[in-house]
Amino acid sequence: MTQDHPLAVLDWRDNGTPVSKQFEDPYFSLEDGLAETRHVFLAGNDLPGRFGGFFHIGELGFGTGLNFLATWAAWVKDGSRGTLKFSSFEAYPMALEDMERALGFFPAVAEYAEKLLAQWAGPGIMRFGEAVTLEVIGGDVRDTLGPWDGRVDAWYLDGFSPAKNPEMWGADVMAKVGKHTFQQGTVATYTAAGFVRRALEDAGFDMARAEGFGRKRHMSVGRML
Ligand SMILES: C[S@@+](CC[C@H](N)C(=O)[O-])C[C@H]1O[C@@H](n2cnc3c(N)ncnc32)[C@H](O)[C@@H]1O
Repeated sequence: MTQDHPLAVLDWRDNGTPVSKQFEDPYFSLEDGLAETRHVFLAGNDLPGRFGGFFHIGELGFGTGLNFLATWAAWVKDGSRGTLKFSSFEAYPMALEDMERALGFFPAVAEYAEKLLAQWAGPGIMRFGEAVTLEVIGGDVRDTLGPWDGRVDAWYLDGFSPAKNPEMWGADVMAKVGKHTFQQGTVATYTAAGFVRRALEDAGFDMARAEGFGRKRHMSVGRML
């Protein structure tokens, strides 16, 4: 495991959901984490329809890796078109055994989880065959996103809730998200918080509210002008 980054410290709810002790917030929806990922991050970025060529996704908050696995599975189901790169920023990487336990809830992506767990040793670059690359950038995104040299087609903004994790949603971070997005690139997040939407607008995105998942009425989506 990585020496440089503090590990995630978890609590497990009775229903098995992992909750961050650092942020007192669950990693995924108590209702159906996988369905939420598909609704918010995949559909919110018009995926899998946009796959093909070299497609690069950026994520704030790698957590359990569920979003990556759901994306990889959707890319395969859609015909494995082009190549997929997934770059995710994470300050508190999970210990292997915690990740394994959390991902055990999602048999639908078990074959992909097994491959991730076989390589997981914290932040770094992991390759899955010729066409799928995962890059996990360790450290606080406020420090790591600026100097990062990537540019993406779609962003998944998946920090803990803005109320509990305001550092991850600040205007400075959102401005950097904008700078690392191709023209016509997109962004999606489960939050409809006005300050996040405004910060993304200031970062250059044309933002809109969309129907949220489950009990959440709204979420936010945007396109870089
Ligand atoms: C809701 S969880 C992400 C869930 C994840 N996408 C998944 O598929 O399981 C939020 C993540 O953001 C990380 N995080 C919180 N603040 C951060 C920061 N300032 N920089 C980088 N990562 C941060 C947390 O450690 C946590 O893993």
